[in-house]
Amino acid sequence: MKKGQGITVLKIGGSVITDKGKNEGAARYEEIERIAREISEFDTGLVIVHGAGSFGHPQAKRYELNGKFDPRGSIITHLSVKDLNKLVVSYLNDAGVNAIGIHPMNCVVSDDARIKSMFLAHIQEMIDRGFVPVLHGDVVMDERLGTSVLSGDQIVPYLAFKLKAERIGIGSAAEGVLDGSGKTIGRITPDNFDQIKQFISGSANTDVTGGMLGKVLELLNLSESSNITSYIFNAGQAGNVSGFLSGEDIGTAISKAEY
Ligand SMILES: Nc1ncnc2c1ncn2[C@@H]1O[C@H](COP(=O)(O)OP(=O)(O)OP(=O)(O)O)[C@@H](O)[C@H]1O
Ligand SMILES: [Mg+2]
Repeated sequence: MKKGQGITVLKIGGSVITDKGKNEGAARYEEIERIAREISEFDTGLVIVHGAGSFGHPQAKRYELNGKFDPRGSIITHLSVKDLNKLVVSYLNDAGVNAIGIHPMNCVVSDDARIKSMFLAHIQEMIDRGFVPVLHGDVVMDERLGTSVLSGDQIVPYLAFKLKAERIGIGSAAEGVLDGSGKTIGRITPDNFDQIKQFISGSANTDVTGGMLGKVLELLNLSESSNITSYIFNAGQAGNVSGFLSGEDIGTAISKAEY
């Protein structure tokens, strides 16, 4: 990717960089290192968002942050995902990427669990100057609820729309969105979603933000207001992150219409 070629928003799923089936705070260091290396080849015009995995979902579930206001539980969850962000940012810097951690708690206000406003001037400035902002799923202040859980899957389309990004990739632990026989669905649009949605559910592990269905709904929602095509692919497979960043169409595409 060369400068001036447009912005890419890439999510690295918590299902890849942590062990979501294990205890709280189980990082997959080798995966973080590998992905950081793959990203380092294509780090121009890039914004990264990572999921919370075992550094956020179990905590948010334990303190019931989707249903009630719990200041202590919100802080414990926020501090935990911040730890994961520190790890990811540190591996990216070791790989030569000028990565800077950005915590949504510090720059987002939500209303009823949807982003109402987000301070973006620093993010735009960073991209223009060759830094790579690294955001993450977080707990944020919420005008109606006190705090709410903000999924990385909601941050990605929001940023892509506001920053007029050209490409979106959501790297997770499955090959893409799978159908009833485990085959990767090539493309999801508002036209075929009704036939496909029977195959899509939440997560096999603890996930307080809707698992695969949450992702697909966020990306379909974006397709109503933009022409951007998003790709859901397996970031756990070596070479896929660099493949996506080098321009490959990979996994399941989600877009406005079949073309
Ligand atoms: N049709 C489907 N195709 C693929 N995965 C599916 C499907 N339906 C449900 N899933 C589940 O969704 C999971 C991916 O969502 P999940 O939220 O667990 O990962 P993630 O978003 O990468 O993690 P995080 O939320 O921590 O960032 C898969 O591992 C699988 O268990
Ligand atoms: Mg998830």
